[in-house]
Amino acid sequence: MKSAPDLNSSYLGLALSSPLVASAGPMTRGVKTLVELEEAGVGAVVLPSLFEEDVDRDISALHAVLEQGTQAFVEAQTYLPELPAFEVGAERSLRLVEEAKSALAIPVIASVNGNTTGGWTRYATQLVDAGADALELNVYIVAADPSGAPGDVRSRYVDLVGAVRESVQVPLAVKIGPYFDSTAQMAVALDDAGADGLVFFNRFYQPDIDTETLEVAPTLDLSTESDLRLPLRWIAILYGRIGCSLAASGVSTPVRVW
Ligand SMILES: Cc1cc2nc3c(=O)[nH]c(=O)nc-3n(C[C@H](O)[C@H](O)[C@H](O)COP(=O)(O)O)c2cc1C
Repeated sequence: MKSAPDLNSSYLGLALSSPLVASAGPMTRGVKTLVELEEAGVGAVVLPSLFEEDVDRDISALHAVLEQGTQAFVEAQTYLPELPAFEVGAERSLRLVEEAKSALAIPVIASVNGNTTGGWTRYATQLVDAGADALELNVYIVAADPSGAPGDVRSRYVDLVGAVRESVQVPLAVKIGPYFDSTAQMAVALDDAGADGLVFFNRFYQPDIDTETLEVAPTLDLSTESDLRLPLRWIAILYGRIGCSLAASGVSTPVRVW
């Protein structure tokens, strides 16, 4: 009789019972599905990213509500909304970290996406203080500036990984996109900057144009099995050549961690 394979793995220096990690997305957004994922055997979960951009938007919206009518009467205070009803900015993500930590035995990896260096480090620190076992930096930089100098993009990645590395002690994964002049050199640079793992790859969503209405049509197709070949190729190239963990990311395909 065949014995069950040993799925124990190490990722970012964390001991995992399985190399399957639930990626950031709708399934990791609530405690109920997080518990189901753990029961189904995932080795760790990555919570949806805390986006600095969302926090800024929430705060602006709250200010707009609070300032509405405040110039009118002293009684204006009475039509201010009940503040405890608001869960503004980062609070939702921080609460999810706390809830996930108390509900799960497996490692909880929080994810952050910043707009500014201060934002990356501030929210990284807050997520760790809320109890995250590790952090994933969801770096979604679209290098769209044609006047940028060669090396600009690499410096931005390296600087931000270095800044977060200095701010937190927990293991750090960096989720990157596939479009670099040299993915291998980028991987080495991020390893040197303090990344404990690299996640291949973030997908840059590409809106379509509806030819009937001539309007931009947001589209989101899940990956297919053949999409896994690109991350696998890079993981195979880099395996044994850099120190940090290497993970492949895909929704409709298996997620494997080396
Ligand atoms: C609806 C949806 C929400 C997602 N949210 C996040 C997120 O908050 N942070 C993140 O790093 N990745 C997010 N992802 C990306 C997934 O974690 C995963 O890396 C990606 O979908 C895998 O690539 P694939 O779509 O090509 O299979 C999201 C994906 C989907 C489909």
